[in-house]
Amino acid sequence: MSQLNNVLKSIDDGLPTALERLFDLLRIESISTDPAYKENCADAADWLSKELNEIGFQSRICKTTGHPMVLAHYHGVKDAPHVLFYGHYDVQPVDPPELWDRSPFDPKIIEREDGTSEIYGRGSGDDKGQLMTFVEACRAWISETGSQPCNVTIMFEGEEESGSPSLLPFLNEFKDELKADFALVCDTSMWDRETPAIATALRGNMGEEITIEAASRDLHSGYYGSAAANPIHILSKILADIRDENGRIVLDGFYDDVPEIPDDVLAQWGELGFSEEKFLGDVGLSVPAGEKGRSVMEQTWTRPTAEVNGIWGGYTGEGFKTVIPSQAHAKISFRLVGQQNPDKIRKTFRAFVEARLPKDCSVTFKSHGGSPAVHLDYNMPELQKAAKALTEEWSRETALIAMGGSIPVVGDFKRELGMDSLLIGFGLADDRIHSPNEKYELTSFHKGSRSWARILLALSS
Ligand code: BES
Ligand code: ZN
Repeated sequence: MSQLNNVLKSIDDGLPTALERLFDLLRIESISTDPAYKENCADAADWLSKELNEIGFQSRICKTTGHPMVLAHYHGVKDAPHVLFYGHYDVQPVDPPELWDRSPFDPKIIEREDGTSEIYGRGSGDDKGQLMTFVEACRAWISETGSQPCNVTIMFEGEEESGSPSLLPFLNEFKDELKADFALVCDTSMWDRETPAIATALRGNMGEEITIEAASRDLHSGYYGSAAANPIHILSKILADIRDENGRIVLDGFYDDVPEIPDDVLAQWGELGFSEEKFLGDVGLSVPAGEKGRSVMEQTWTRPTAEVNGIWGGYTGEGFKTVIPSQAHAKISFRLVGQQNPDKIRKTFRAFVEARLPKDCSVTFKSHGGSPAVHLDYNMPELQKAAKALTEEWSRETALIAMGGSIPVVGDFKRELGMDSLLIGFGLADDRIHSPNEKYELTSFHKGSRSWARILLALSS
């Protein structure tokens, strides 16, 4: 126990320097989806690998067909379990830049009037701040005791935000080196700012980019208006038709593999005291827009959805241009649940579009990856140990929750390596991940590091 207290004290005392390290990482513009930031992604991987080597891990960079992975080991702890920790160092694009109050890659601590503070910057909440909570816990264990309670392998990915295209080949190539008793993933949220949580389910994802082409060139809308097919009209009609008036997705067989959630699980979630008014009110909304007859919690945790993430075509610059564009484009993603298969949904979606395409129009599709939903075992013994450690740190019962986001690696750990994962993170719903003005609470970073220090010890017993 006194060892743990020393480790926790070292995390407390070291907070200012830990923040300096986090800021170094946050300054690196590691936007994985945009090829212009390839070097920056490599820089983030190098920075992390160097950091891990300095702490006492044996770390190296592994090349992939995309952005590199960081792979690090700290082994040799006798009679202790072996955990694989996962985080991602890539971040989302900052667009639209004009909506940021400050520069996204110039991190700052912002103190609020109520005495709390936030760490401001792209990647602070997703996922650099989160992954550094674990690194700081390892650092404190090693510096205070010369060892760690568990054998630890760390894997940092650089393509999570762009659908993890190189992940499967990497997992296969490094299968033996990655194999551990189970995985720890720090990329999810707490229930609220006081209540720690372990996520036991995530939605899957399937991404498509679609281009509809009509005339062979852009046209003057006076010359051709009404006679020429307008691909923006066609595209928007098809996209609008994906949902019916009750918010249900009308693709053939879309709900075939969507299970109903058992009553006992729904009852347990009911006890969490979720407020639809607050959840929507916090972002300026009041009316749930999903499937009628489903609560907001169901809509975001257990039901699939189709969302247009971007749509463009024609003239969108300053001023005005009377044009019928030759092409229209959209990016659309599906969140999947239960046994829904991304490949099957992709085929159904493409058939849906093709069947609605008028004569003279053509369509091209580009896949942006896919991963099925994830369901974890509530009764994993490690889950109970971690929940207890979290409760000790936060003085609150740990909530078992589901989350609507996707983390492709979790399903792949299970399928490719036979490994279960524990999804523990310290983000908050208002961290504005993927949005302008992303932040991470200072308490998330500090108590998150303390939580991992406790969890590592709890898992070793
Ligand atoms: N950290 C998120 C996943 C997440 C979001 C978990 C919200 C819990 C709550 C992750 O980095 C992420 O955003 N993943 C992408 C994956 C996609 C591109 C395949 C996502 O969910 O959009
Ligand atoms: Zn993330």
